[in-house]
Amino acid sequence: MDSFEGKVAVVTGAASGMGLAFARRFAAAGAKVVLADVERPKLDAAVARVIADGGEAIGVVTDVMKLDSVEALRDEALARFGRVNVVCNNAGVGGAPQPAGEWVDIKMWDWVMQVNLWGVVHGVKTFLPLLLEHGDGHVVNTASMAGHLPGWSPYTASKFAVVGLTEGLYAQLRTLKSTVGVSCLCPGWVNTNIHESVRNRPEWAAPALDDAPPAPESEAQRAVIGDLLRGGKDPAAVADLVHDAILADRFWVFTTSDFDELVRTRHRNIENATNPKVWRLGD
Ligand code: NAI
Repeated sequence: MDSFEGKVAVVTGAASGMGLAFARRFAAAGAKVVLADVERPKLDAAVARVIADGGEAIGVVTDVMKLDSVEALRDEALARFGRVNVVCNNAGVGGAPQPAGEWVDIKMWDWVMQVNLWGVVHGVKTFLPLLLEHGDGHVVNTASMAGHLPGWSPYTASKFAVVGLTEGLYAQLRTLKSTVGVSCLCPGWVNTNIHESVRNRPEWAAPALDDAPPAPESEAQRAVIGDLLRGGKDPAAVADLVHDAILADRFWVFTTSDFDELVRTRHRNIENATNPKVWRLGD
């Protein structure tokens, strides 16, 4: 894709954080944007903001956990704008911190994997055929540095899966000799609302012990994550990187070099079949 002018971009998780920043950046570059999110009031406010900036935008309440909801998003985007060029499978949740030594609640696994992994699967499955048909398109899947550095949580597992899925998609598109591009966004800390993702947790995913006071260790971890996020990159700066990566057809989009040494160490350990290095939040 060599320009955003007159193109149509669909962004999931667009009511907040990076998704909203992508929508604003693409609109500023001349694209019509479809903002999708499960949180209606924030979605309405996000659409109003893009329009107030001078952009053309609609909002579609979408639950990426559900294939039929993502298909309805596609249908609304086509009904309004006639085509889709860019798809950002960006909606994601962090889960909730768990005390070390306790195996994560199975419902939390289910929720985090459904949003972070199945949301991307649903987006690719639904939109890729449209992009392949006209060839002028790009898919951006939001993974994380947590997709390169193992952690003990469903979040890490979901992001490793998104990295693998997206590399596989790239290989498939090159085999097909398609002109559709794909990027794998792997942010480090970014100043968003991800540490409050429990706000969008469905009823069925609430653990049985939800009413019990949170373990001090998990509260401390939450505070550390909050501080790291507040000190993180501005979502608008990440949106610039994504905008540029689409135009340059760049696969990897990293937002920081802070984790390079940890990633290199992991790769070396794999090459040498030595045991993994244990790292902690904030390393
Ligand atoms: P955010 O919480 O500000 O935005 C996430 C959006 O996803 C929210 O608007 C939320 O309503 C939406 N969402 C949640 N469940 C949904 C569902 N079932 N269907 C549709 N929308 C849903 O957080 P942020 O950081 O902007 O997250 C965007 C992506 O970036 C996520 O995939 C996250 O895992 C990833 N990421 C974030 C990092 C950070 O430091 N903030 C670092 C690495 C990756």
